[in-house]
Amino acid sequence: MTTHTGHSFGIDIGGSGIKGAEVDLKNGEFVGPRLKIPTPQPSTPHEVATVVAQIVREKEWDKPVGITLPSVVSKHTVHSAANISPEWIGVDTTELFSRYLDVDFVVLNDADAAGLAEVAYGNELAKTGPVIFLTLGTGIGSAFFLNGQLFPNTELGHLTVGTNEAEVIASSAAKEREGLKYKEWAPRLNRVLQEYEKLFNPQAFLIGGGISRKFHKWGPHLTIDTPVMPAQLQNRAGIVGAAMAVLEGLEP
Ligand code: BGC
Repeated sequence: MTTHTGHSFGIDIGGSGIKGAEVDLKNGEFVGPRLKIPTPQPSTPHEVATVVAQIVREKEWDKPVGITLPSVVSKHTVHSAANISPEWIGVDTTELFSRYLDVDFVVLNDADAAGLAEVAYGNELAKTGPVIFLTLGTGIGSAFFLNGQLFPNTELGHLTVGTNEAEVIASSAAKEREGLKYKEWAPRLNRVLQEYEKLFNPQAFLIGGGISRKFHKWGPHLTIDTPVMPAQLQNRAGIVGAAMAVLEGLEP
């Protein structure tokens, strides 16, 4: 049982799309349709913040919004930009978004937001013990939880595994880019998870992102000892976690 209440609004900024929806925090479900606008290229702070403001305006939302970025965000400052314009590095998010939005907001890492949503509304396993949540998309995002408490801004997608960064080897974008079948891509993910297992020894891995919908196709090819489960919120999680973060003061 969760104790979340009220309606909120989340915006998930990704490498390919910027998505926003109103969320009912009682059950983590969207209220009305999600609005998705392609991420402008180049994805500079000005271009992206303009789209964020457009989503809030088109959805006629006039209360606080939660916003995710595919970046390390600490004390309102952006510290990394792997799949977004490098102009984001050093940006003060309070200063930036207050120029575009008339409502209050919080900004946090996309995987942290998605993990928070999974803990609240998804797989019960995320609530106890040490669990690593991963989201596979353009990159690999990570969120560490101990008994449901987030340790923010971990960046496991950038751990070197063999000769390359984990996300270059095993993100879903890598699968697309190289035209790999699920059974060809799964051993790569397995290799990456093996490395994470060796270093962090979690009780389970929870895997989110759009590709988690196809878990039945690749999950059976994994051979690591630690249990691997698909996250239940799939690619809804980022928006839901952002919406939670702003209403519940979860900004890391
Ligand atoms: C970024 C992370 C982000 C992940 C998923 C990585 O490239 O460094 O901050 O969580 O992609 O979007």
